[in-house]
Amino acid sequence: MPFLSDRFHDQNRRDGRTDLTGPSGPPGSPAPANRTGAFDAAAVASAVGDRVVGQPGAVRALRRALVVTQAGFHDRERPLASMLLVGPTGVGKTEMVRRLAAQLRGGPDDLCRVDMGQLAQEHYAASLAGSPPGYAGSRESHSMFDRDTVEGTPYRPGIVLFDEIEKAHPVVLRALLGVLDRGVLTLANGERTISFRNAFVFLTSNLGSRDLARRRSRPWRRFVDAAAAAPVLGPPATRLAAGLRGRERGTVDGAVRDFFDPEFLNRLDEVVYFTEIAPDVAEAIVALQLRDVAAVFRRRGAELDVGPGVVEYLVRKGFDPVLGARGLARVVRASVVVPAAEALVRHRAGSVAGPGGSGSVAGPGGGAAANGDSGGLWVRVDVVDGAVAVAASEGPGPSVPA
Ligand SMILES: Nc1ncnc2c1ncn2[C@@H]1O[C@H](COP(=O)(O)OP(=O)(O)OP(=O)(O)O)[C@@H](O)[C@H]1O
Ligand SMILES: [Mg+2]
Repeated sequence: MPFLSDRFHDQNRRDGRTDLTGPSGPPGSPAPANRTGAFDAAAVASAVGDRVVGQPGAVRALRRALVVTQAGFHDRERPLASMLLVGPTGVGKTEMVRRLAAQLRGGPDDLCRVDMGQLAQEHYAASLAGSPPGYAGSRESHSMFDRDTVEGTPYRPGIVLFDEIEKAHPVVLRALLGVLDRGVLTLANGERTISFRNAFVFLTSNLGSRDLARRRSRPWRRFVDAAAAAPVLGPPATRLAAGLRGRERGTVDGAVRDFFDPEFLNRLDEVVYFTEIAPDVAEAIVALQLRDVAAVFRRRGAELDVGPGVVEYLVRKGFDPVLGARGLARVVRASVVVPAAEALVRHRAGSVAGPGGSGSVAGPGGGAAANGDSGGLWVRVDVVDGAVAVAASEGPGPSVPA
């Protein structure tokens, strides 16, 4: 039986379609049009890059994989692409895969995620490949894979994410080797297979990161990084920090090579190294998250107006390099979303007569912001006396008084 990617390419040939980049797909399919192999690799990579900040190397690697698939140059008997994403916690590894799913499939969570930490013991290998004959469940050929999100359709490639690959038992890794090599997993009862040949396969790992964190936490190292970020010591500090980063990359590379057999690494299309989140990248991530918050507010008829210094304040408060960007969403929620919600509710209770209110204030985008519950309100966020102050009003108004 032909696999989906073959079938798709056959179909293209029958259609006489030679331009795989053109707009295609059935009406109403998500944008950009994404028949397997017929998405616009550059547009998809660029959209992912807009959301995954400060990891240009990773986004370029993703773009390479997409371009090869778009051109139809991938190996038909293996996954569309397979990439190992290595790096510390909270730097955007999972986020990149989620953003790819948002572009190619129905949304950021429309992917098959397998937590390898749960497959740490040999007998759990059965949950990857189904139960062997004689075990409970062996008849059903159940596995932890959701066939739809793995095999995709002629219009949507599958996306599979094996998280924390270093925690998987060697038996599980061997099963994965088959997936990378032949693009097929035979379920343990031997009767059914799952095809990964129409899927982008990602594996993530924190290998080497603990060593890095230990080195980074040394006081002299912190001083060098700080000097390079705010160049009080000029180019020498920057060069020194860059040199250290190069050596650290070697540490991670060594950890990856120690852990995986060469035959495993050789079957991957790429090993992609994610870098630690620097303070300026953390600021860009907070700005991105505030834009998301503003979009939610706008849908509810309120405009979020962020004053100067707020982003820097939030980063100072919420950024811990050891946790990467993980703490940022929490501080945005605690310092902006919750107080803004409270200010809006208070304002509505105090001054707005009934649902819909009297507000019909035009938002900064030019559109009237009066189509939600809050009725054309503005929420102004400022830093006042070393803390975030949030105030709601009927119009843009002045900033919160210091
Ligand atoms: N480079 C980035 N650009 C934008 N947001 C990021 C980035 N890195 C992390 N984030 C934010 O931090 C959260 C956690 O990141 P993510 O899930 O990608 O971590 P990870 O690298 O997969 O870490 P882990 O190894 O612990 O799984 C994301 O949901 C996202 O909001
Ligand atoms: Mg992750």
